[in-house]
Amino acid sequence: MRSKKYITTPIYYVNDLPHIGHAYTTIIADSAARYFRLRGYDTFFLTGTDEHGQKIEEAARKRGKSPKEYADEISAKFKELWDDFEISYDKFIRTTDPDHIKGVQKAFEIMYGKGDIYKGVYEGHYCISCEAFFPESQLIDGESCPDCGKPTSIVKEESYFFRLSKYQDRLLQLYREEEEFILPKSKKNEVIRFVEGGLQDLSITRTSFDWGVPLPDSIGDPQHVMYVWLDALLNYVTALGFGGQGELMDYWPADYHLVGKDILRFHAVYWPAFLMSLDLPMPRHIATHGWWTRNGEKMSKSKGNVVDPREVAQAYGLENFRYFLLREVPFGQDGDFSQRALIDRINSDLGNDLGNLLNRVIGMSGKYFDYRVDSSDVERYYREELEEIERIIAPLDGHVEQMRWHKFLEELWKLLSLGNRSIDRYTPWVMVREGREREAMALIALVANILAKTALLLYPVMPKSCEKIASALGFTIGQESFRRFVERGELLDEFQIERIPPLFPKIEGPLMEEKRSPAPEEKGEEFIDIDQFFKSQIKVGKIVAAEEIPKSKKLLKLRVDIGEDRPRQIVAGIKEYYTPEELVGREVCVVSNLKPAKLMGVLSEGMVLAAHDGDGLSLIGPDRPVREGTPVR
Ligand code: MSP
Repeated sequence: MRSKKYITTPIYYVNDLPHIGHAYTTIIADSAARYFRLRGYDTFFLTGTDEHGQKIEEAARKRGKSPKEYADEISAKFKELWDDFEISYDKFIRTTDPDHIKGVQKAFEIMYGKGDIYKGVYEGHYCISCEAFFPESQLIDGESCPDCGKPTSIVKEESYFFRLSKYQDRLLQLYREEEEFILPKSKKNEVIRFVEGGLQDLSITRTSFDWGVPLPDSIGDPQHVMYVWLDALLNYVTALGFGGQGELMDYWPADYHLVGKDILRFHAVYWPAFLMSLDLPMPRHIATHGWWTRNGEKMSKSKGNVVDPREVAQAYGLENFRYFLLREVPFGQDGDFSQRALIDRINSDLGNDLGNLLNRVIGMSGKYFDYRVDSSDVERYYREELEEIERIIAPLDGHVEQMRWHKFLEELWKLLSLGNRSIDRYTPWVMVREGREREAMALIALVANILAKTALLLYPVMPKSCEKIASALGFTIGQESFRRFVERGELLDEFQIERIPPLFPKIEGPLMEEKRSPAPEEKGEEFIDIDQFFKSQIKVGKIVAAEEIPKSKKLLKLRVDIGEDRPRQIVAGIKEYYTPEELVGREVCVVSNLKPAKLMGVLSEGMVLAAHDGDGLSLIGPDRPVREGTPVR
């Protein structure tokens, strides 16, 4: 077995202050790093900031600063937050670090020397916000970015290209052979579909702005700077010394690149292709998490509802917040942050299940045995419970390996319910009353051992709280205790319990002021009156035919009967979500008085309505069959 683990977070753009999304990835990565260290792996944990590109250059200009000044300021804020949160990173990389820049230039030279980079002219649509190029066929309404919806701009400039198309087959082979390359596995198909749709060579240099890594001198084209994603992705190897001494390259390949779902494609398609070109081994997992909303709404600066991790940690405690983030949402899915949900988790999981169990053990051992706990008779009286403990612990490691932290914690909590259940079932106070002291002592020791194992396993998520539990139980958390009590199933030596104050006092109500979501008129949004609404005619229609439009990845051509003498032809951007076969016969809502328009040369005489959330798209229709042409209002 490989004894090293290498874990990374994305490097964060410095055009934004750290928010819950950044904290989420970083805390998962930190928990993973702590877990692997505890298991004895030589672990390297990397985080940092992504500081080049047009977006940063513009953000700096708006504030009247040079890009470097501005990047220094925000990068420091990220570092400060992670330090205050005691994130256990081994290196904080900045893409403005001279060693990184050298490494990126070296990589460019290698790829160029291999014939994977050539010079050409780029003409296309560029989204500054996503720092990504899109072919026209993918744009929404021919102009907006398919990922973030913001307008794109047309770029025509001389550019170097990376032969991404050359790697299409090898990438598909990688996804086929490495079952767990993308975690959770459910995200894999989306990537495969994208690659199967055909990969175009990637423009990897720009001349229209300066804030980027210049091409190496050997290329002799000083007006070009590198595309920010090429520069950024390479951080994962330059941090290990690639292009320089290579002193830490033993850690490569990465075991986990933790990423949000919005940047999966860059990590699962472009990055492996760059690595193939550099003849470097593939990372083991691209572990992809979902997005957080607040009280059900998307977070944005303009709404003023962005969750500030520092504020939450100050109000509720950093470790409680860490636990909440990892427990609340299945890894890979979107999650919602609300104070209610956070308080429930703290009061119920941490207060009732964990904190109370510890209090019960402290209380009982004090009352009956003067705080002494001795495990000598546990095997004799509670063999069944010990077997149950083994059964609960056995699959936990697999959950961490798959980054299923919610499952890991859910299953770990079974230990606590076993503890609480055992006390209620065997009633040690009755045992003592009946003179069965040895049995009572064994029961208290059983529960103390359950708590000790829980503290070791929970340590990566809640280090300080678990250290306190361990010290109450007379041991310290480390590789040695982990090996003994978790891996080998040993029991605690005889010890004297140390009384500690309750770890998770009950929280009665919200501790942070809730920013009310402003009403439309407060936000400066205009109301429309009913007449304006009725200007849109919406009708129920039945899809009578559906077919693909050649060369379009997003569009389908539909024929929709809306009660007129002939069905309407409607072009809809739904191909990624529906097959033509499953559409025929469905009832949908159609805006019927929309000005006809051509999409990819095909006439569209209306629009079908659909709801689009983070998980995909859902067509809107009546919930029982309704006659075609029925107005919707
Ligand atoms: N700089 C790139 C990453 C380059 S990695 C070689 C970038 N930076 S970012 O700052 O915009 O985003 C960093 C991470 O934060 C992404 O993984 C993104 O998914 C995550 N999040 C941003 N908003 C989020 C939420 N609301 N919820 C959860 N994570 C989100 O992309």
